[in-house]
Amino acid sequence: MTDLKWWQTAVFYQIYPRSFADGNGDGIGDFKGIVEKLDYLSDLGVDAIWLSPHFPSPNWDCGYDVSDYTDVAPEYGTLEDFKAFLREAHARNMRVILDLVLNHTSDEHPWFLESKSSRNNPKADWYVWVDTPPNNWQSCFDGDAWTYVPERDQYYYHYFMKQQPDLNWHNSEVKKAMWDAVRFWLDLGVDGYRLDAIGTIYEDPNLTPHEVPLDLAGLRNAGDLARTPAQKKGVFKYWHDMFKNQWAQPGLHDLMKELRAILDEYDGDRMLVGEDDNIDYMGNGEDELHLVFNFPLMRMGRLTPSRIRLNQKERLSRLDGLPSKGWPCNTLGNHDTSRIHTFFDDKQHDAELARLHAALMLTLKGTPFLYNGEEIGMTDLIITDPTKLRDTMASWYYDRMVNELKVDSEEAARRAGEMTRDRNRTPMQWSDNPNGGFSPADIETWLPVNPNYREGITVKDQEHNPNSLLNYYKHLLRVRKHSPALIEGEYIPLQNTAKDYVAFLRKSAEQTVLVILNFSDTKLELDFSRVREIKGHDLQVLFSSAERLKTAKPPRGLTISPFEVLIAEVQRTK
Ligand code: GLC
Repeated sequence: MTDLKWWQTAVFYQIYPRSFADGNGDGIGDFKGIVEKLDYLSDLGVDAIWLSPHFPSPNWDCGYDVSDYTDVAPEYGTLEDFKAFLREAHARNMRVILDLVLNHTSDEHPWFLESKSSRNNPKADWYVWVDTPPNNWQSCFDGDAWTYVPERDQYYYHYFMKQQPDLNWHNSEVKKAMWDAVRFWLDLGVDGYRLDAIGTIYEDPNLTPHEVPLDLAGLRNAGDLARTPAQKKGVFKYWHDMFKNQWAQPGLHDLMKELRAILDEYDGDRMLVGEDDNIDYMGNGEDELHLVFNFPLMRMGRLTPSRIRLNQKERLSRLDGLPSKGWPCNTLGNHDTSRIHTFFDDKQHDAELARLHAALMLTLKGTPFLYNGEEIGMTDLIITDPTKLRDTMASWYYDRMVNELKVDSEEAARRAGEMTRDRNRTPMQWSDNPNGGFSPADIETWLPVNPNYREGITVKDQEHNPNSLLNYYKHLLRVRKHSPALIEGEYIPLQNTAKDYVAFLRKSAEQTVLVILNFSDTKLELDFSRVREIKGHDLQVLFSSAERLKTAKPPRGLTISPFEVLIAEVQRTK
């Protein structure tokens, strides 16, 4: 294989620490639990972990409101527990990247407590302060973006909850303090960072107001009520217009370059992946972020062959156009979006689609990111009791619906349950013991466990079943690991107008692999004998989701079963 970096060949797995594994039995995940499950991850075949925030936090935004950047939340353990986790992960050849929240801190962070205490304190300028709200900007989580502080008789700006004040990144002391925190974990040996919400770091310097005739609650409500495609498009445009002056503003490229330079001082190829889909944040391909996510794929709604091909064409041509070619990064789920088995399924062929989606992630060119629980087919849990919501943006919206928009409380509860990110953050389902084996039976877990742990959606049930989704993931991960073409090969789309299936080659110097993903419930008869790279070759099956012998097949008259995933090596006819 050519000289790829570890983050190009790795399969990442996102651990949401609150919900992954509860080692001390208190209903909340922790490092003890994570360490106990490292063998599980190693056996699954993942190479790297993205750990969502593990820092001390009052949890207004489930850890994305950090009150100390260089410590560990007590509910997850101690700094020593973190070090043990890192050591144990590295001992199993798994890399670890942390979540870095640059845009804002918690309002309980000592920096903010000091900043808000008076207009003259040394950190007075560490956040974004104004005498009166200069515009109608909204926070995307809780309405007005400007919140009053009596101590200063001033307002501060927050893009997210009011408990998450935005840092003033024009202040060089802020930068220095944050870069110190970045170094703290790099010095301990972490392998990089996932950068949270980078688009929100700077604001329009002219503070231009938005022109949407609604506030946040009104906009969410309009979204809930939109029925026709035109209405939905209108709401989508409103979302863009409402926040366009608070997003992707000048300054970010220089900041990303500065951060990249810090990572590059360290040995071991530390890496950065941005929570953004904008390839511009990869700079020239070598001087800003190593990766940005292919969110357009995740957000396209139903995954159809033509949409997938178009997505790949657009992304790959942009990445190839960078002075030093960029590397793709694909994902279909994370802690902010509906679980893939809920979002992409059709309620008829869910099991088949789950397998197709996994195969898509693991065969497209680029670094795949999996989200904990997807490997056993976990689904969203709709929480209809508003008192059980932990995602405060949803509780805020529930409150506004009932008290301002006068939505009937049952209807408001339903809508809040649908929009909250709690639905896709429920505890990992380890077994069919009470609480899905996440916590002891008599413990109330921090979010309810999805009761479908009683229906086989658990690690334990699936581990010993050769036909389970879990074993399917393991198998695919193994095939990928042993295939140079799947790891580093170019992506060459085939039969570009096919409506029912996606077919492409992955071609490296050592190997050429044909991938066919049949998204339809019909049997296909395909012919690849005229494809230049395949002509005069046979296809040796490396993997199939259908019953199939591993023998070589001619590329003509190839029968593909409904929903089949076929991965075959192109081999010279013997
Ligand atoms: C990112 C995180 C999300 C969080 C937000 C504010 O989008 O993924 O969970 O709420 O940033 O930090």
